[in-house]
Amino acid sequence: MDKWWQQSTFYEIYMPSFKDGNGDGMGDFKGITSKLDYLQDLGIDGLWLTPFYPSPKVDNGYDISDYYSIGPEYGTLADFELFIQEAHKRELKVIADLVLNHTSTEHPWFQESKSSKNHSKRDWYIWRDQPNNWESFFGGSAWEYDQATEQYYYHAFAKEQVDLNWSNPEVKAAMFDVMKFWLEKGVDGFRLDVINFLKVNGQFINNPYDDEKQEQIHLYDKDQEGILPMIEEIAAFVHQFPNKFLVGEVGSEDLTILKKYSGLDKLDVVFNFNIGSMAEFETKQLYQQLVATEQAYDDAQIPTLFFSSHDMSRHLSRFGGDTDHAKLVAAFMLTAKGVPFIYYGDEIGMQDWVTDDISKMKDVQGMIAYQLALEAGKSQAEALVMANEKSRDKSRTPMQWNSQANVGFSDGTSTWITIPEAGCNVTVENQQDDSGSMLTFYKELLQLRKRYSCLRQGEYEFLRYDEGVIYFARNDSTERIVVVLNFSDQPKTIEDCFTSDVKMLLSTKRKPVECDDYRTIFAHEALILKEVTNR
Ligand code: NOJ
Repeated sequence: MDKWWQQSTFYEIYMPSFKDGNGDGMGDFKGITSKLDYLQDLGIDGLWLTPFYPSPKVDNGYDISDYYSIGPEYGTLADFELFIQEAHKRELKVIADLVLNHTSTEHPWFQESKSSKNHSKRDWYIWRDQPNNWESFFGGSAWEYDQATEQYYYHAFAKEQVDLNWSNPEVKAAMFDVMKFWLEKGVDGFRLDVINFLKVNGQFINNPYDDEKQEQIHLYDKDQEGILPMIEEIAAFVHQFPNKFLVGEVGSEDLTILKKYSGLDKLDVVFNFNIGSMAEFETKQLYQQLVATEQAYDDAQIPTLFFSSHDMSRHLSRFGGDTDHAKLVAAFMLTAKGVPFIYYGDEIGMQDWVTDDISKMKDVQGMIAYQLALEAGKSQAEALVMANEKSRDKSRTPMQWNSQANVGFSDGTSTWITIPEAGCNVTVENQQDDSGSMLTFYKELLQLRKRYSCLRQGEYEFLRYDEGVIYFARNDSTERIVVVLNFSDQPKTIEDCFTSDVKMLLSTKRKPVECDDYRTIFAHEALILKEVTNR
């Protein structure tokens, strides 16, 4: 446990929505810099920034048109440099989201590639005379016909996000230059977007179809042969620079696949979607995934802990809207073994947003779902429901600093989103001096994690499940901490957890003086206890 990231809690900032520093309605670097004190006070250690490069923003920046500068809406390179400097001054690390798999169709590389079949960059992308049956992950065919050169190009996501051909060594060299540029600018690592899509099966075998789910099985368009050596090359390149960190987005919930991508000589960690993207909260399932991950991972592999992101519903909304439950989830994330990633706004209990008007929808995935539903003969009302299900706008609303910040957030093309009335009390301003607030609870958890090394680096001494309660003890050479999380709505008796007297460190339901009987846990209580014997 000698690496900084093994001891860190990260915080994801969705660039357009965190903090507007120049009054144009879009988040930017000046805004984030002005909130570094808030982030330091919260107690996190590192920031993950979603893409901030110039982009036509068909997919909110995951369609990069220039890898070497800052999108003008986010500021200048000087604003970025100042931000990095100020973050580092506060001992906050910064990791940049990097999209290696595809570029925007507006990127000059693609413009050159599509200019002629004979262009030297033609082979930087994937061109074919005939498409196969592969579908884009946003819906519809993954192939787009180019009239001028009479071939199809491949795009795993929107048709404006064109896949690079990583079998071409020039592509690799160009992207290594990009990485070098940002590492030298001071970023502490990268979050690598859809990294298991980087290579596709060169034979372009048709994907099979799942008749039951009525959808394509993405068998040959991800996790393909040749990908792991490529990941190893990327990791070796980045790790030449001291203390740099790589977290991979491996698009899979399958632990056997996730497991392949992290560890010695590979990515430092990957997002554990097997845990984080549960659609509904199932305590037993969470426990089982935790155990399965423990068993599957070797000593060099560390899981990540998250339940929300810019691609999914916020966990508070997804798991039913109950703040006691959200506190239990937070307590789990910040005391279990792994590297936690908090999504901006979860620390104040922000909720999902759903639109009743398709013209307000911004997310390409939602909009494609709407079009496909209409084409399939659905009514506008039905199509809107389907679009809202797919749309990721739900978790991308402006950070609720105060009640004014909630309305009229604009991205320059149309009004972004108005937070529903119900959400308006959920603000940093309202919660910062409230000892019972979600924000205070996150701060307390983060302080505990900072103070007790076993919460950052201890192994599980035991990990147990019983009737809706998850129990674990984490220990290292200095201390032993027991965590009991009662996700059920019944009080429960705690058995066989302690080897000596305990002291309460944190509870969501009681103050230390109120009750020192830790043989029972209240319904929906998170209880964190420390053994008093000195090690
Ligand atoms: C994963 C990103 O998190 C998501 O927001 C994006 O749409 C896809 N990759 C495509 O880049």
